[in-house]
Amino acid sequence: MTRRDALKKTVLFSSGLLTAGWLSQANAKVPNTNFPEQGLHFLAMGDYGSGNDRQRAVAQQMAAFAKKLNAPLAAVLALGDNFYGKLTPERFKPHFEDMYAPADFDCPFYACLGNHDYGPGYDSKQGPAKAQMQLDYAKDNPSSRWKMPAKWYAVELPEAKKPLVKIIFLDGSFFEGAMTPREKLDQKRFLEAELKKKTSAPWLWMVTHYPIFTQTSKRSDNAKLIQSWGAHLKANPFSLYLSGHDHNLQHLKVDGYKTNFVVSGAGGAEMYEVTPSGRGFSKAILGFNHIHVTTDSVTVQFIDVDGQCLHAYRRSSKGKVKILT
Ligand SMILES: [Fe+2]
Repeated sequence: MTRRDALKKTVLFSSGLLTAGWLSQANAKVPNTNFPEQGLHFLAMGDYGSGNDRQRAVAQQMAAFAKKLNAPLAAVLALGDNFYGKLTPERFKPHFEDMYAPADFDCPFYACLGNHDYGPGYDSKQGPAKAQMQLDYAKDNPSSRWKMPAKWYAVELPEAKKPLVKIIFLDGSFFEGAMTPREKLDQKRFLEAELKKKTSAPWLWMVTHYPIFTQTSKRSDNAKLIQSWGAHLKANPFSLYLSGHDHNLQHLKVDGYKTNFVVSGAGGAEMYEVTPSGRGFSKAILGFNHIHVTTDSVTVQFIDVDGQCLHAYRRSSKGKVKILT
């Protein structure tokens, strides 16, 4: 048995996997890497900062996929829980810079903070100092691909002058010991101000660590986030809400929302079982997402640690969603 087979077997066994979803493993396909239309390519991963073989296996598959793509990556969206356990400045090199080597990923990594990036209730007990260390690393190393200009921020890509997509990154760490009441208020004002700003970007996405809707046995839909951001999702043309936190891959469509909800929390931690649902695709397996955006459409692929495409959809500029795989 190869090391990867052994790893996969352990993951399968430990998580009681393959519970639900639109697809079975038998439907998995080779991911599409040939996109003739001009556009931007992103990878997304969450809950990856274990530093162990799981993280390495997903990172290697991401690199293999990026190599096959017929275009460069615009960015990697790093969805939080960036470092499990105690964080020291020395960890950035092995667990970020080397794990995702520039030869494979020659692009910025736009990162957001997860619960494990805070404390004091989580593993390292470092508290907000752990989050601050990640903000400081970005600030002190401007040439690094690690980008975290603030706990909440917005980017327009490929450039503000002629953007294809506007991404608003938010911090949903509303629990005791994480964001302060002042920070929560500042973020709320920031979000409201960003949504009032004019943009010529045809696409608007919200990116954060925490799913607002989820299909996992460990947790349910997040009432606090529905209260905080639900109305904004409904009132604005958000086509994608991208998160991590739940250690699996999901694509949900939820009554009352036009947004596609994607959970990509499978970058390197132990799996969380998924629960059967009529809301869409969900699978407990290590992996990541590929997103291709053009003026006319957004295509999202769900790729597992073995490089198989488990699920894919395309959304048109009119909001029509077609399941491709
Ligand atoms: Fe998390």
